[in-house]
Amino acid sequence: MSSSWEQLFFQILLLVVFCRHINTKTPGPTPPPLVSINSPLPTDIRSVVLKGESHTESVELLNPVNLTLECTWTGNQNKLPNITGFWRKDGDEVENSRLTVQLENDQYNLKRVFSIISEENLGNYSCMFESEAKIDFVLAAPHMHEVRDKPIVSYVGDSVVIVCKMEETKPKPSTWNWYKANGTDKEQIFTAAEPLRYEIKNDERKTKLVVYNLTEADGGLYYCGAVYAINTTMGLVELKVINFTEPLKPFIAITVEVIVLVVAIMFYERYQSKKNYTAGKGMNDQTNTLTQGENNEPEEGSSMRQRKV
Ligand SMILES: *[C@@H]1O[C@H](CO)[C@@H](O)[C@H](O)[C@H]1NC(C)=O
Ligand SMILES: *[C@@H]1O[C@H](CO)[C@@H](O)[C@H](O)[C@H]1NC(C)=O
Ligand SMILES: *[C@@H]1O[C@H](CO)[C@@H](O)[C@H](O)[C@H]1NC(C)=O
Ligand SMILES: *[C@@H]1O[C@H](CO)[C@@H](O)[C@H](O)[C@H]1NC(C)=O
Ligand SMILES: *[C@@H]1O[C@H](CO)[C@@H](O)[C@H](O)[C@H]1NC(C)=O
Ligand SMILES: *[C@@H]1O[C@H](CO)[C@@H](O)[C@H](O)[C@H]1NC(C)=O
Repeated sequence: MSSSWEQLFFQILLLVVFCRHINTKTPGPTPPPLVSINSPLPTDIRSVVLKGESHTESVELLNPVNLTLECTWTGNQNKLPNITGFWRKDGDEVENSRLTVQLENDQYNLKRVFSIISEENLGNYSCMFESEAKIDFVLAAPHMHEVRDKPIVSYVGDSVVIVCKMEETKPKPSTWNWYKANGTDKEQIFTAAEPLRYEIKNDERKTKLVVYNLTEADGGLYYCGAVYAINTTMGLVELKVINFTEPLKPFIAITVEVIVLVVAIMFYERYQSKKNYTAGKGMNDQTNTLTQGENNEPEEGSSMRQRKV
């Protein structure tokens, strides 16, 4: 008896441990890509020779890389035998980057390796030659050229296709994601969760989001994300969903006004012709010219009068 209780207790204990193990193994729905820290990063180098005082170099990156940045400065008229060089990242001095640079072959040379592993490592790296000269390297994933500046307009109940693309010259993203702004955040759109509402069609440098059965709540800001290993580049599209009667409203208002006017004119005409009829045939020619002067539609007016007469 006591041994079976012990066994049960042991089994429960095992179960609890097992469950805890499972819990700790799944930190979230989307674990970060498993780039092992130990596996050697590919290496790359960017070198700039500066003759003036400053230069900005754009560096487009797709994947994690050990990037060597090399700055060569031809100096100014002082040509001191040595100067102090250091590095900045996004305006802040990089720790332990200060060193003395000797003048060699009539130029100063400063070089450093940066491990670019994730989005935080992207940004603006500057090599500084005292405060005399600098080179900015701006590290970023490929940019998306502006998708469109005007909002897309569609109607309640319709479906709409929103398109984003990278330029042909840019590298292909590994995949595309779509997000919708919800006031505070960007909420990713998962088509599997709402297959009747959304569809995403990806084609290399192009992506399409189809939204079915539009409601006014579907209006707002949409983001397409071109996913590169180092960062996801975002493009922005605004969607406006309007009620079908909305653009018809001025048209309907004008139509109603015209009908009212026409009816009023007809009544007036009828009243006038009755008056004419009772006044006698002799007056006919006179009233004809009179009504023509007042009427905007002489054709209709005269044909009516002909029928009456
Ligand atoms: C990358 O750079 C880091 C230092 O920034 C270095 O420890 C590592 O060995 C480098 N890896 C490769 C493959 O060069
Ligand atoms: C730098 O140059 C100065 C002369 O301008 C010299 O006195 C000094 O020793 C040099 N320092 C180094 C580290 O070469
Ligand atoms: C990069 O940072 C420097 C300051 O270190 C700043 O002067 C420069 O404007 C920045 N460039 C860009 C493109 O952000
Ligand atoms: C917006 O989306 C974020 C992320 O999915 C979510 O945490 C937040 O609650 C949403 N906010 C609103 C107002 O729906
Ligand atoms: C759109 O909504 C209507 C009803 O509101 C539904 O019958 C129809 O199947 C929906 N169409 C799609 C493509 O979801
Ligand atoms: C990563 O991409 C996002 C979206 O385009 C952008 O806002 C952000 O500045 C990028 N991060 C870096 C460090 O460039």
